[in-house]
Amino acid sequence: QVAILDFGSQYTHLIARRVREMNVYSELHDCLITPGELSNINLVGVILSGGPNSVYEDGAPHVDAGIWKILKDKGVPVLGICYGMQELAHVFGGSVAPCDRREYGKASARRSSGCTSKLFDGLPEEFDVWMSHGDKLTSVPSGFRAVAGTSNASYVAIENLESRMWGLQFHPEVTHSPYGPIVLKNFVVGICGARQDWVMTDYANDFIEEVRAKVGPTDHVIGAVSGGVDSTVAAVLMTRAIGDRFHAILVDNGCLRKDEANQVLHRMKDDCGVNLRCVSASSRFLDLLAGVTDPETKRKIIGGTFIEIFQEEATKIEEEIYPARCEWLLQGTLYPDVIESVSHKGPSATIKTHHNVGGLPDTMKLKLIEPLRELFKDEVRELGMALGIDEASVWRHPFPGPGLAIRIMGEVTPENVRMLQEADAIVIDELVTSGHYRKIGQAFVVLLPTVKSVGVMGDGRTYENVAVVRCVETTDYMTANFYELPYAILGNMSSRVINEVRGINRLCYDISSKPPATIEWE
Ligand code: XMP
Repeated sequence: QVAILDFGSQYTHLIARRVREMNVYSELHDCLITPGELSNINLVGVILSGGPNSVYEDGAPHVDAGIWKILKDKGVPVLGICYGMQELAHVFGGSVAPCDRREYGKASARRSSGCTSKLFDGLPEEFDVWMSHGDKLTSVPSGFRAVAGTSNASYVAIENLESRMWGLQFHPEVTHSPYGPIVLKNFVVGICGARQDWVMTDYANDFIEEVRAKVGPTDHVIGAVSGGVDSTVAAVLMTRAIGDRFHAILVDNGCLRKDEANQVLHRMKDDCGVNLRCVSASSRFLDLLAGVTDPETKRKIIGGTFIEIFQEEATKIEEEIYPARCEWLLQGTLYPDVIESVSHKGPSATIKTHHNVGGLPDTMKLKLIEPLRELFKDEVRELGMALGIDEASVWRHPFPGPGLAIRIMGEVTPENVRMLQEADAIVIDELVTSGHYRKIGQAFVVLLPTVKSVGVMGDGRTYENVAVVRCVETTDYMTANFYELPYAILGNMSSRVINEVRGINRLCYDISSKPPATIEWE
């Protein structure tokens, strides 16, 4: 594998993803991995990620000295990116200092004269790169030479052929570095000689093996399914690993989409062979949500009640099946959920506590299994196809754990849920029949129950609710553009929703992108 040592950059996961896109296996590891842990890994190369710290600061993370020895002895090539390159400089006798002018964005890099670095095979003399740094190298470490610079920094790429170490100040992993994929491939395939034979089914097989080793023979695992692609893929993987010892639980929290519980039950049980039980708990959730309008409080109530229900179900399973022990909880957490919910060393501040990541109580007894934690949505879909899951499930838009509760901008009452369910079903139906559903990353309706609008129906005045249609194009759900839906389809949606859903007399279309908006309204 190509091991990526994570110094906390928000782009670290992208490096892993770019390597996987070359069909090479790659894993993220904490930058503080010990020499003992690293020596157990079959390494073909190591990439040091960027990070928010300055190498010269007290408390900045550094690779353990024993690791350099292992890499040298084994002759494993190392590529340092941004902070990673500064770490190479810090350790091997170069110097790093704050830039006079911090550099965020596009820059033009020029190869040093006569540069024949393998890293730049196939690149022109001058090429655009994406920078994001406040520090720079002011002298190269001993044994290294500069192989490219910009007008702002003389050393944006360095190499030491003898020690097999390379450093880049720019970020080849982001799409804004157009030659980034070539540079990474030059390192991973050209320099490290990694075999390009890894496929998604390997990911599944590795996970299945890992789970079988981790989960004991009388251990049972429970996991929530929502009908979204993530929980479906996670549940199918788990079923492949341990069969009926995995118990998928569909909690009807009263905030599911129209007829969702039935559809999920059918698809998961009949089509995917997942051992599924449905817990009808609408009134339990809706009673707790009565009078609550704050989004984070809604998430906490729903997340907390979900966990209570899982723990109750775990106890029931232990009582029903002897000698079962139910101590594991499967979660379909994805990489973007992780990065947006927790501030792990890196600079990304908590944006929303997606309940499946941020809201688990300390008292929760269940241990977590998160097979998709390193993947992006499109990779999960690829995995779903590799597992043979039906297309309707694989291409189903994601649905948040708190469900319609965070799509009602106000109190979650049964009447508000009813209006939203009906409007949502019409909008999705129009998208499916017009062929737009698959081109959209996520589509849904938001209800604004605190806003009332005047309308006229027949000869009478109405004073009713406003709903908003939200459709976004995205691959990773970290950024998104509003989807340019043709007016004719918007027109059909509007006339159907207003005519068919009692209580809504106005439909709007959300034209915000993420950032600065988020995909959900709450
Ligand atoms: P945002 O609104 O943060 O959404 O741009 C990004 C993706 O995350 C989903 N989302 C959630 N999923 N629990 C979840 O399981 C949550 O609390 C939650 N909030 C947002 C959202 O639907 C989108 O796919």
